[in-house]
Amino acid sequence: GGGVPPVGVCPAGHLDRVRADGSGQRLTTNQGVPVADNQNSLKVGLRGPTAMEDFILREKITHFDHERIPERVVHARGSAAHGYFESYQDLSAITRAAPFAAAGKRTPVFVRFSTVAGERGSADTVRDVRGFAVKFYTDEGNWDLVGNNIPVFFIQDAMKFPDLIHAVKPEPNNAIPQAASAHDTFWDFVTLMPESTHMLMWHTSDRAIPRSYRTMQGFGVHTFQLVNANGEAVFCKFHWQPVQGTHSLVWDEAAKIAGADPDFHRRDLWEAIEAGAYPEWELGLQIFTEEQADQFPFDILDPTKIVPEELVPVQVVGKMTLNRNPDNFFAETEQVAFCTAHIIPGIDFTNDPLLQGRIHSYVDTQISRLGGPNFHEIPINAPVAPLHNNQRDGMHRQAIARGRVAYEPNSLGGGCPFQAGMAGFQTVFKMPQPPEDKVRGKPELFADHYSQARLFWISQTPAEQAHIVNAFRFELSKVQTPAIRVRLVSMLANVDPILAEGVAQGLGIEVPAPMPLATQAPPPHYHPSPALSLLAR
Ligand code: HEM
Repeated sequence: GGGVPPVGVCPAGHLDRVRADGSGQRLTTNQGVPVADNQNSLKVGLRGPTAMEDFILREKITHFDHERIPERVVHARGSAAHGYFESYQDLSAITRAAPFAAAGKRTPVFVRFSTVAGERGSADTVRDVRGFAVKFYTDEGNWDLVGNNIPVFFIQDAMKFPDLIHAVKPEPNNAIPQAASAHDTFWDFVTLMPESTHMLMWHTSDRAIPRSYRTMQGFGVHTFQLVNANGEAVFCKFHWQPVQGTHSLVWDEAAKIAGADPDFHRRDLWEAIEAGAYPEWELGLQIFTEEQADQFPFDILDPTKIVPEELVPVQVVGKMTLNRNPDNFFAETEQVAFCTAHIIPGIDFTNDPLLQGRIHSYVDTQISRLGGPNFHEIPINAPVAPLHNNQRDGMHRQAIARGRVAYEPNSLGGGCPFQAGMAGFQTVFKMPQPPEDKVRGKPELFADHYSQARLFWISQTPAEQAHIVNAFRFELSKVQTPAIRVRLVSMLANVDPILAEGVAQGLGIEVPAPMPLATQAPPPHYHPSPALSLLAR
């Protein structure tokens, strides 16, 4: 369906109603009262005390005192831009998702790129994963594809996310080190979690030090579902491929730039767009059926696995262009709220246990980061599609809902919207139904932690392999605890002997016996009590 004005001529035009420009205007208070003197406070005599009644001074200082909001608990450092997505074709046979309804259809987007570990003011070119979050303002509501520049993740279950991040962030006693990964707690944790091996290969590769946000791929990471108007579903992995090509820095450049120009990626994105060199990404889909998925030697619900392109080729279906910088960093880049729960008719989740946890986490954190439940009304978050429901009140409510009725069912009419029925979002039950018993555990295929890590290693050129070895050597040389280094090399021994040997040599240790292959056994420091093992299945 249409409805969304074409973008391109006037990018992000839907925000015009709230854009403000003070040039040539009278200075006023927040109440619109003209201010005569913005330099001097009101005093009782030129050398006397300041008058309590100086509401102009008090308003100015009070607002300043409350300028800061909490930074994101992860992905605090980021940069964003407006643009549009253009579908190459009509994909309605596969999905009823609005952006793919017709060839040439344009949907406005806002995209935020980020590092994960660093604080809001940290350097851009550190070794880290990069966030790649896209908000599509579709005519059937907002769809957020909240991805990363690496197609897999460290952990398989949302239960581990707070542990992972506590290990990645600076240590709680002294807030050292700020560097993304070069420290004991990170390497302690990941070497006790062999499921992170595949991700560690990407993390020590050149992928973790991109040349520019414009030269990064993006990935949805999880398997999603696409659903057509008949309710038929297929599985899907999302890929963003930069038209500029995928390029990385080398470590020496990255380290030097982090000191000389910590805003390197932010500046690069801003300047490219100001110069009219609009960055573009093609959207690729890997589409496969449940029958195909059943044949794969890995579980498609496991976010530490890719679907190799030899098994399922990537089909390019559209292009995203970023063509307008934000007018205001705080109002747009800082206040934007992405969420994996923001899906639209035609897109659905899978039972990936990492994705399932994310569906809860984003809105939850944003309620405290953005001050209450109404942050969807902040202009950068507001849908272009019309919004009507019976939710009401809460901090900072702006909409003025009319009528006396805010409940359903009702016989009084008066302001109450009707539910959309088949025209609305429908959940598909394509995945196998969960077993009747509740279990805390994992499917068996989740235990293969090394096959795809090896696949990644052998896909690298000799120069890229040398970069990986050097990155492991550098990172682990910063680790104080010898046992962690040994444990890392024993993990790598399961990936490739040359890799393990190269890292061990650099650290001046012997290659230890390979880490026992995972059988879903708990990590070594964890001793389940007899009571717990009775509960385990
Ligand atoms: C940001 C949680 C895994 C991509 C965030 C934020 C939270 C969070 C709380 C801050 C949001 C905000 O303050 O607005 C989680 C949890 C995860 C998880 C609980 C696992 C259970 C992932 C994965 C990806 C990812 C696997 C990539 C596929 C992002 C991105 C952002 C983000 C791109 C930044 C969004 C922005 O630019 O504002 N995550 N995350 N996260 N996360 Fe995750």
